[in-house]
Order: sequence, then C-alpha cells, then structure tokens
Amino acid sequence: MNTDAVHASPLAPEWLAVPDNLNVLQAPMWAAGVEKSDAGEVTIDGIPVSELKEKFGTPLFVMSESDFRSRARAFKDAFDEAFADICGGVDVYYAGKSFLCTAVASWVAEEGLRLDTCSGGELAVAARAGIEGPNLGLHGNNKSDAEINRALDMKLGRIVVDSLDELERVAKIASSRGETAKVMLRLTPGVHAHTHEFIATAHEDQKFGLSMAEDSTEEAGLSAAEEAVAAATSYSSIELLGLHCHIGSQIFEPDGFAVAAQKLLGFLAAMQLKYSIVLPELDLGGGYGIAYTPVDTPRPAAEIAQAMAVVVRSTCAELGITAPRISIEPGRAIVGSTTFTLYEVGTLKTVRVDAPEAESQQGNVTYPRRYVSVDGGMSDNARPVLYDADYSAILASRESSADPQLSRVVGKHCESGDIVVRDVYLPADVAAGDLLAVPGTGAYCWALSSNYNYLARPGVVAVRDGAARLIVRGETEEDLLNRDMGVANV
Ligand SMILES: Cc1ncc(COP(=O)(O)O)c(C=O)c1O
Repeated sequence: MNTDAVHASPLAPEWLAVPDNLNVLQAPMWAAGVEKSDAGEVTIDGIPVSELKEKFGTPLFVMSESDFRSRARAFKDAFDEAFADICGGVDVYYAGKSFLCTAVASWVAEEGLRLDTCSGGELAVAARAGIEGPNLGLHGNNKSDAEINRALDMKLGRIVVDSLDELERVAKIASSRGETAKVMLRLTPGVHAHTHEFIATAHEDQKFGLSMAEDSTEEAGLSAAEEAVAAATSYSSIELLGLHCHIGSQIFEPDGFAVAAQKLLGFLAAMQLKYSIVLPELDLGGGYGIAYTPVDTPRPAAEIAQAMAVVVRSTCAELGITAPRISIEPGRAIVGSTTFTLYEVGTLKTVRVDAPEAESQQGNVTYPRRYVSVDGGMSDNARPVLYDADYSAILASRESSADPQLSRVVGKHCESGDIVVRDVYLPADVAAGDLLAVPGTGAYCWALSSNYNYLARPGVVAVRDGAARLIVRGETEEDLLNRDMGVANV
C-alpha cells in the first residue's frame, strides 16, 4: 500500500490525516499489551481477537487488567510524590461512574486508591467488593434519603453535599440516628475546562454544586457556598471536612485546575478565619483527558500533578494557611485507555456526498463516504451521540494492503445518529465478518450502555498475564425478557 498516492478525502475533518500505515496501532490510544501479531491480527497479552470473539462473542469490551492497575498506580504515585511535602500525599478516589464492577472496585482498593460513588447502586457494588466505608465517597445532586442512610450505615468517609437543601437533609437524618455525617461541600468555582481551554465565569447555571458568586443567595453579599459553610458548622450532626470542585472533563492542560485550586484555597482560608474553623480537606475532582484519536495529546499524570502542586504550594504560602489534604477523582484517565470494543462488521454501503462548500462552487462534485455497520452501536457507546465524541478504529482481525478509504463506523440501531466512529480511514477491502477494534472505550461506554432496540448489553473481559476472563457477563435474550411481566399480567 502506498498512502502517498492517497489523498485525504475532502469529507474528512481537518484533524484526520491519512495514516502512513493502516495496519499500525497508534500508541497513545491503546492499552499496554495490545499489539499486532506476525499474522497481522490485533492481540492483547498475546491473545488474538479472533479467539476472544470465538469464546465471548461480539460486541465485547476488552480490558487490560494490568494496564488498569498501572494507570491507577501511576496517578496515586505521581500525586503522592508531587504533594508529599505539601500535605503528605494525595487521596485518589477512582470515579466509579466511568466504569464500575466488583472486580474493578477490588483492583482500585488493591492499588491503594479509594472509590468515588454517586448512587446507592454504586455503593452496592463497592460493598460487594468489600471496600471499607471510610475509603468511599458519595456524590450526587439528588441523593435519596435511602442513599443518605445507606452512606451512614456503611460509615462512609465522605458525603459530598451538593446543595443547601441536601445539607439540611443530611444533618436531619444523621441527627435522627444520633450520628455525625462526614461532609464535603461541592462548590462551583465558575471555572469550566475542556481539552486545551478553560473559561471563568462568576455565575453558574447548572444543577451541580453551591455557587461561590457573592450574590448567589437571597442573603445580600453571601454566596451559597458561604451559607453552606455557616450552616454546616452550626449542625452538631455534621462534621465539615472541607471543600470540593469538579471543573469538567477530557482536560489536557493543568491551567483550569490551577485556577480552581486558587479560588477554592482562597475561599477555604477566608472561611477558616471568619468562622474559626479548620477545613482539613480539599478535593479537586476529576477530568484528566485521554487520547481518543491520534491527535489527542494528554499529559502524563506526573506532569499535571507537578503543575497542580506548584499552585497549591504557592497559594497556601501566600494565604498563610496549612495546606489541606488534597484529593482527586480521576475516572476516564484511569480506565478509558485500558479498553477497546471489539465489533464484527456486517453491512457495508457507500454513499456519494456533496462536496464541502468551497469545492462545490466549481460544479456538482461529490465524494464517497463508506458506511461500515457493526453489531453494536449507540447502546454500547452513547458518547458520539451524546457529546459528538470522536473515536478511532482499526481492522483487527487481519492485515490489509488495500488503500485507505474514508469510513463511518455505525451501529445497528434505528437511529441515523447511531454513529460509533464518525470519521476514520479503514482499508478499502474491509468486509462483512471482519473484526474492528475501537480503542479508548473503557470510560462512560459500558457505564452508559442501554438495551435500546432490545440489544443485549455486551460483556466485559479482563485480560491479565495472557489469560482472559469475564468480569461482567454479556446479557442474554433471557435477561432482556426477565423483567417483562408477560401477557398474563396485562
Ligand atoms: C464530581 C465528579 N468527579 C469525578 C468525575 C470523573 O471525571 P473523569 O472521568 O473525567 O475523570 C466526574 C465526572 O463527571 C464528576 O462529576
């Protein structure tokens, strides 16, 4: 194959280059241990994808356990090292919402991390995995009384309170039990970050958190955040541990984290002084980015940790306060790249598409776009539909010397927006029965999966030391019909 001769399709987005070699796995997107065999097949820990398909079927989430563990450890070690002299290290809470099952929860604990949950169901997984309450946090903007009681039953290390309303409810429930709830307050610092940029605004128009803007409550001059601090210190059933914020997702640059840390530390210092309290903890949330496509360039955990440590150290010195114990909540950056989704190709079709504007002025020019349908779709990866997320894909079951062809990988659902990979160059000879692998599907794919069109949700296989085992089995047709009460009950 000579891709020099192959021109980029005018239909392709600007960022998408024609790969030099379609058979090569592009490093930042794949888990350690994913390679090409001599025969040209994608393997993980030496296991060919055809063997995985044979044993477990498709679609299938294929996760590297060792890669998960090493990414978890990398975060813990990097942040511990960077913050050692500031606050004796960092508590890393893996954000379970990104992907959670009992096996993963147990790896998290074994690697020395804690677990961030945001529902009673996630707490149930944590309990089944044997995670101790003090190593758990509970999030959520609308926790039920049952969830708050469950958190207290399990003696959770922290309940992250999201609103004044919830603070009052937690205080009442804890008081009625004769207990004290350990609470962090989730603040909205007005910093929103995504990929390379962040924006700072005074006011927040979102469902999460307590605003730090001074006119955010009826009380003139008092922010919702301050009102919550004042209220929390007045409840004997609340132990106020500290403050929390989460500024966005898929963030590559540390600047947004730095600005948020400065804002929260300034507020923490002011509250300590004004209310004669000590707030020993500060959680800076998650949001660290990963590579979904060849042009994504996430920074190593150590680099972000160092950048954040510099800011926390200097801000605490300027404010003249003892640094609080820092915690973070990475999800995607730990699990995202550990996993690829394996699909089987079915129907193929090519359409002619009008040329983009500039070209079409020269006449009625059209270009081909090939649709490659796979046996899953928006039910196992909702992110392209939800967020316009970009992914990549590779022909996984064999090598090909065919020319690259601009392709759109689509699912089998009854939605025209059912797109798995919007734009990718695949070999022109991709055919029904081939296997495709889509990298970077560890976070917010299985977690967001659905049974739309009565498709069974795929299983998750973990690979370690050359062996693959199911950590979540795929659904069967029986599972799909299990909760249907049947015609007898109509
Ligand atoms: C409060 C909170 N913490 C942590 C996370 C994890 O974010 P990420 O997976 O991008 O690291 C989220 C994600 O939405 C969140 O809302």
